[in-house]
Amino acid sequence: MQVTATSLRRLVARIMVLGLFALFFSACHLDMYDQPKNKALTASDFFANGSSARPLIDGTVSRGGLKIDARTTGREGGDPTAAYVTTNPISIDANVLARGEARYKIYCASCHGEKGNGKGPAAGPISKGGLGLKMPALFYVDQLKGKVVANESFTLDQAPDGYFFNAITHGVANLKYDPTKPETADNPKYTMFPAGYRIQIVDDRWAIIAYIREMQKNPPAQK
Ligand code: HEC
Repeated sequence: MQVTATSLRRLVARIMVLGLFALFFSACHLDMYDQPKNKALTASDFFANGSSARPLIDGTVSRGGLKIDARTTGREGGDPTAAYVTTNPISIDANVLARGEARYKIYCASCHGEKGNGKGPAAGPISKGGLGLKMPALFYVDQLKGKVVANESFTLDQAPDGYFFNAITHGVANLKYDPTKPETADNPKYTMFPAGYRIQIVDDRWAIIAYIREMQKNPPAQK
């Protein structure tokens, strides 16, 4: 068939008519639009407090209202280039230490060991990996002496609380990471994976640090 200007015009006209039909019929289906619903901030007799809006859950952060300070970053004033805080910003009592112990056993003991000696069940397999990593014995300051900390000027026995917070939150940078190669077990970005994404409650991280410091003062017998 030869395509002439007239046949083309007819075809376009037909498509337009069909399109209009489709629009007309679909637009008539208003069920979703008309369904029963609460508009924002209207009253409702469904909920006991008479409000259609549900109360905010605890810890809700308003847009632009995220608090960035020493407690949420481990750095003085929350400034990412400032020094690490040297004291734990939460007040520590027996409950906090118990919480820290429980969280330590959940999030850290698999690698660093329940006794903090670096001999958790996952330590052996990880040490046999490509990087041959050794878990620091976190409860034994003597064994942390002279251990170099990536990108920092202090050794691990001198590391301030804020650095511990940073390590838990962001992980420990792998200085040998090669960004031109895929991230694999032999080429990881972090030698210690950030546990912060699992420990969402900021103060739980501080509670763990408080517990570690307490154990460093009086470490358990190693065997
Ligand atoms: C999957 C195993 C694993 C878990 C779980 C783990 N760590 Fe580690 N951690 C490591 C390894 C491996 C290193 C040594 C990293 C290195 O030498 O580069 C390390 C190092 C550290 C260091 C020293 C950081 C440094 O710069 O050398 C601290 C502090 C630490 N871990 C604290 C913790 C705490 C607290 C937890 C629990 C919240 C935890 N880790 C959970 C594997 C783990």
